[in-house]
Amino acid sequence: MLFKKKEIHVDSRLSHIAFIMDGNGRWAKKRAMPRQFGHKQGAKSFERIVRECNRLGIKTVTVYAFSTENWSRPKDEVGSIMELLSSYIDRAQDEKDIKFVFLGDKSVLREDLQKRMTDLEEKTKDRPNTLNIAFNYGGRAEIVHACNELIAEGAESVSEKDISDHLYTSASPDPDLIVRTAGECRISNFLLWQCAYSEFYFTDVLWPDFDEKELHRAIENFYKRKRNFGNVTEK
Ligand code: IPE
Ligand code: IPE
Ligand code: MG
Repeated sequence: MLFKKKEIHVDSRLSHIAFIMDGNGRWAKKRAMPRQFGHKQGAKSFERIVRECNRLGIKTVTVYAFSTENWSRPKDEVGSIMELLSSYIDRAQDEKDIKFVFLGDKSVLREDLQKRMTDLEEKTKDRPNTLNIAFNYGGRAEIVHACNELIAEGAESVSEKDISDHLYTSASPDPDLIVRTAGECRISNFLLWQCAYSEFYFTDVLWPDFDEKELHRAIENFYKRKRNFGNVTEK
């Protein structure tokens, strides 16, 4: 007998989900393969998860793809991550509903890559669903960047809203849920300002193994939580 898969319903309480896609290296190591192989599988997982988030109706998805600290990795590994981004930009041209936004400093990336990133952002800017790709991203650098923009605009004092409006994520609401795979329970310089009231979900599953089932598990867990935002609410 066939059992119908339980469908998961998402509402406005979960309008933004973010992922710290960790564990590609360990996934490859377990298979005695080079780390690059793990990143390649991780990229496949990323595309599946973005598709499923869209299908579920989650308006904004953010992924942490490359941090400002990841430059310290071996040159070959960094090069392979750049190539994966480049080939993803090619495939992204076929997407119909996604607005692409790159979070981070593009200016130090290869020039052709910078141009294709900007072109993709421009081409998709009026679309309904957002995919933020944090690439050469650091939360501290982002806050410093926002402050410098405000100074350049002549600000003498700033409000929380001013800072939020000058972050790379200015067009997105704060994340409701941040998922980190591969067992590490830390933020690693991701969305430091925006995570003030985010819910966190940590799983030991390595990113290349993080599939639709694991995503549903994270979402179900999120819906069991009560968010107070500093207020007092009835149990
Ligand atoms: C995450 O996987 C991908 C990036 C940081 C680019 P890792 O490469 O950090 O995988 P582990 O943590 O070494 O297993
Ligand atoms: C965080 O993972 C960055 C990305 C997922 C892109 P890392 O693997 O770089 O984080 P740490 O070094 O373990 O904190
Ligand atoms: Mg890691």
